[in-house]
Amino acid sequence: MVLSFFTDFFTYETTKSVVVKSWSVGIINRIVQLLIIVYFIGWVFLHEKAYQNIDTGIESAVMTKVKGFGLYNNQVMDVADYVVPTQGASVFCIITKLIVSENQTQSFCAEVRILTGKCVEGPRGEKRCEIRGWCPAEDDTINTVSPMKEAENFTIFIKNSIRFPMFNVTRGNFPSNIDEKYIKTCKYDPVHNPSCPIFRVGDILKYTNESFNTIGGEIGINVGWVCDLDQSEEECKPSYSFTRLDDVFQDNKVSKGYNFRFAKYFRSPDGTEYRTLHKAFAIRFDILVSGKAGKFNAVPTVINVVAAFTSVGLGTVLCDLILLNFLKGAEQYKAKKFEEVTTVHTSESNQLSQMSQESPRPRKAKLEEKHSEDSGAFSIGQLP
Ligand SMILES: *[C@@H]1O[C@H](CO)[C@@H](O)[C@H](O)[C@H]1NC(C)=O
Repeated sequence: MVLSFFTDFFTYETTKSVVVKSWSVGIINRIVQLLIIVYFIGWVFLHEKAYQNIDTGIESAVMTKVKGFGLYNNQVMDVADYVVPTQGASVFCIITKLIVSENQTQSFCAEVRILTGKCVEGPRGEKRCEIRGWCPAEDDTINTVSPMKEAENFTIFIKNSIRFPMFNVTRGNFPSNIDEKYIKTCKYDPVHNPSCPIFRVGDILKYTNESFNTIGGEIGINVGWVCDLDQSEEECKPSYSFTRLDDVFQDNKVSKGYNFRFAKYFRSPDGTEYRTLHKAFAIRFDILVSGKAGKFNAVPTVINVVAAFTSVGLGTVLCDLILLNFLKGAEQYKAKKFEEVTTVHTSESNQLSQMSQESPRPRKAKLEEKHSEDSGAFSIGQLP
């Protein structure tokens, strides 16, 4: 028993091939194989670079600096006035419109928020309810304030350094040996100046198809790093793209645009605290860094080469389908491909089948034969 198990186990089985000399199937076979090879070489290996290890876990640091002067309500506005927060982070706002409510103190006046139940006269003589809070109350119903036009000419300087931890490669969005004069004067332009890290606000709005007069929302500046580290590291450069991030709310009637309030607090000599409240309408900029780097590695290469060779064999599935179903003489091909074993060629069963054609014995033997020769291939022969 054990011996026969071992001799059965240590055997080698190989498939028997049927060669079909047919032009039509032959051409289809070669075309399918060619398409599979072209797909693997052209798309998988050359385009998708399946021979590389890919690092998508990019690490990044962003610093920003806005420059420019504006004129608003007869006041010159500099960076400290219109950029919030001032730290130069990757998310910041440039204020383009302001509603200022000066000299507010804690007292009673006309408004609609925290009601006291009394009726008083509003700033234009109308009847209003009295509130308790910071007075005089902000009147943000004036919608006629125009944006600070000069903001179009403000520039945003982006300093971005990244690292691909898998390959330990660090890069900056502009070379460290860059010309000082160049960096002071250049403006980003996707065609003529794609590596300049200084962006004009008006240009950014133009790239996102936004008009300066209606803008109030969030703009994403995407810094994309797609690096092929099989080439020189110097070739690992970012590309910039611009999107309006809050596009879905653009036609929303409830929450349009972007605004926030902040106040500056003072104390008069007699000890009363008062404040200047600002309602600011701003463009928010968000610098998003993404990227991936690839470098040749033997493991993905071997896996994909094996996958390519295996897939070339897929052509036979299609050709079999055509050969066995749609071609002239499909029955003969079928008969050749699926050989039926109709009698068992042992002397004993020969005798038996001769002796008793009608007896169930040969049929049983035949079934056994079919069963034992089965080595993964299948047979679609019919019982007589
Ligand atoms: C922006 O700068 C250009 C060129 O310096 C100037 O002609 C234009 O008037 C400026 N725009 C605004 C709104 O100040």
